[in-house]
Amino acid sequence: METKLPDVSVNINEKSAFDYPIFIGENLLKNAQLYVSSYTKASKFLIVTNKTVANLYRESLNIQNAEWMVLEDGEQYKNFDTYKLIMDKALEMRLERKDAFIAFGGGVVGDITGFCAATYLRGIDFIQIPTTLLAQVDSSVGGKVAINTQFGKNLVGAFYQPKLVLADTSTLCTLDKRQFKTGLAEVVKYAFIEKTAMCNFNFLNFLLDNSELIKSKDLGILKEMIKICCEIKARVVNEDEQEKGLRAILNFGHTYAHAIEKVTNYTHFTHGEAVAIGMRLVFDLAKMRNMISSDYYNLAIKLLSKFALTYVLPDSTTHEALVEAMLFDKKVQDNKVRFVLPVDVGKVVITSDVML
Ligand code: NAD
Ligand code: GLY
Repeated sequence: METKLPDVSVNINEKSAFDYPIFIGENLLKNAQLYVSSYTKASKFLIVTNKTVANLYRESLNIQNAEWMVLEDGEQYKNFDTYKLIMDKALEMRLERKDAFIAFGGGVVGDITGFCAATYLRGIDFIQIPTTLLAQVDSSVGGKVAINTQFGKNLVGAFYQPKLVLADTSTLCTLDKRQFKTGLAEVVKYAFIEKTAMCNFNFLNFLLDNSELIKSKDLGILKEMIKICCEIKARVVNEDEQEKGLRAILNFGHTYAHAIEKVTNYTHFTHGEAVAIGMRLVFDLAKMRNMISSDYYNLAIKLLSKFALTYVLPDSTTHEALVEAMLFDKKVQDNKVRFVLPVDVGKVVITSDVML
């Protein structure tokens, strides 16, 4: 049996036909062995997951010659201590250069496992099997891998691409409502940036037209939606893997979001909730600066509302605290905060000339 053609291909390296495939669809886990054998030469695997995902899906993922490492569940475990645990396990197993790590879970598991793969023996293969919507549309694609430190999130990391991404949409059925909506915030983001990403899926209308099916997790429409997101992300990453320019558009809404997460101690909002507020704030900013029409502003607010991506900041969150947090963001250059602002449907600009 052969694998089907990839749903999306990432093509960073112009010399190769494609760097890695992304497969998206129902019940892919049961054929994972086939995909894994087709896209790596590894003879041994270390599968990294967390307790929640292991409880739900350990029996569904059968990979030969694999050992499992089951982490505690939570962002707070994406740290140096867990990094050491995983590395020690790989060393005990005597994984060799030709072997591979498999990240099986959400963005937390994907980011830390990818960083382990990037640094173990100076880099061995890794495979992403994302199980949250956020991971399927964003974090498993594009090769940003990292861990958090006491000084901030994702401060130690690398650009390191996987060999294969296997997004089994059936796993989204067990995702709770809050986590699903968190992923939807990143999905909506793609509608606001797609034309600048050189794509034209008319994604904003796709999301408006199919909002009820999406919210009810219709697997057919979810596959289509995830595929469009991955196409848009792949297009950007192919152009600018290491965020020297264009890739910054993937941070639409994130300048505010990172500051919001920081001032609320990473406990009040999920990342996607903070991104949803951040996107609303950049639309407000663009409207105030007469950069967008009222029609587009209203359309954007309609889309956010359709998915109930409407959150309010706690009263204790002051403008001053947000500005201070933005000035300490790792993306600040020469004391200037970089914003991605909307200018037209699907189009954005990157600018540092915003008076805070
Ligand atoms: P997560 O990995 O913490 O997963 C969210 C929750 O869902 C967890 O409790 C997890 O155990 C649970 N879960 C996972 N799959 C499930 C399933 N199928 N059914 C039920 N529950 C399931 O969070 P996330 O939102 O997936 O990822 C957030 C992380 O991703 C952050 O660390 C963020 O920094 C990172 N991130 C990275 C990139 C990138 O480009 N590398 C992009 C965006 C976010
Ligand atoms: N999630 C932002 C990026 O991959 O660049």
